[in-house]
Amino acid sequence: MLPSRGSSLFHVIDPRVFERPLLDELCALATRARLLAKTEDGARALRDLLPTRRAMLYFTQPSTRTFLSFNNACHVLGMRTSEIRDPSTSSEVKGESFEDSIRTFSSYVDVIVMRTKESGRAAQAARLMNGIPRPVPVINAGSGSDQHPTQALLDIYTLQRSFEDQGGIDGKVIGMMGDLKRGRTVRSLCYLMKNYKNVRLVFIAPEQFAMEPDVKAYLDQHRIPYTETTRLSDVLPQLDAVYVTRMQTEWDTSGESRAVDLSHFSIGAPELARLKRDAVIMHPLPRGPEIDPSVDQDPRAMYWRQERNGMWMRVAVLIKIFGVEQRIGEIPTV
Ligand code: NCD
Repeated sequence: MLPSRGSSLFHVIDPRVFERPLLDELCALATRARLLAKTEDGARALRDLLPTRRAMLYFTQPSTRTFLSFNNACHVLGMRTSEIRDPSTSSEVKGESFEDSIRTFSSYVDVIVMRTKESGRAAQAARLMNGIPRPVPVINAGSGSDQHPTQALLDIYTLQRSFEDQGGIDGKVIGMMGDLKRGRTVRSLCYLMKNYKNVRLVFIAPEQFAMEPDVKAYLDQHRIPYTETTRLSDVLPQLDAVYVTRMQTEWDTSGESRAVDLSHFSIGAPELARLKRDAVIMHPLPRGPEIDPSVDQDPRAMYWRQERNGMWMRVAVLIKIFGVEQRIGEIPTV
């Protein structure tokens, strides 16, 4: 059976629709799958969950982690995948419309995962699916500089795991640093923060790359306090988590990223010395010079674990979309 539009999770487009119970359930599912996969029997049981399901990975914008983690998340669950990564190999070059291409993918598969350079494309595909007789779920794997909901989910999972022994995400001070204007990961993560109590956000960005007013208006509306600064050193010791991002140079029109003095927006040995002992450093990756590779050795560096959490969170999302969460609960553990 295909997931129906009435199921508890169908399209994954906009992080604003995620409520705390669903976030907690997805985190628990990710952990359950992660632990099951450690044994041969558990890994086989996971692989038997969705062996008849197929996914289309339509990634026409560069991707390493999101593509590979979705691809492997599908394989963990026994699903098969097909892909288009280079738009020049798609009939869109013959003039086929975006809608017709998406409808074609939906004819062959049970879920479409898509990343595009243009904002709003995944939402457009989901709207199209809602109007056809055999709709399949659409998962937004990054839409322009706009949203990246599954990244935000894996970031929440990483924060929750990191603060497991410190009362969870509630009450934490979370810094977001770098190109906040054009970075879709931080925009999506801000939206999910409405689900946690007494969280305070600290935006650390060059003036010209500050967080956009639409996200700030959302935070105001949900009474999530935030402050803004152009210097990490002024706020560093207050932070429980620092979410570092790179300059999104691909959106430059005249090399504006190069004008930024990254020394105020980077983590190296001097910053480690002033960061709380139990704080965490995150990054959606790929990184540029904003995190020195020597930081990788520090126990507070969480980004490699965050990357791996991404695959388990995507497993959890697929489990929920295809409604096999009961079955994973029934798999015996040793
Ligand atoms: C991010 C993206 O593509 O938005 N990467 C990712 O999905 N892990 C972050 C980035 O490219 O800076």
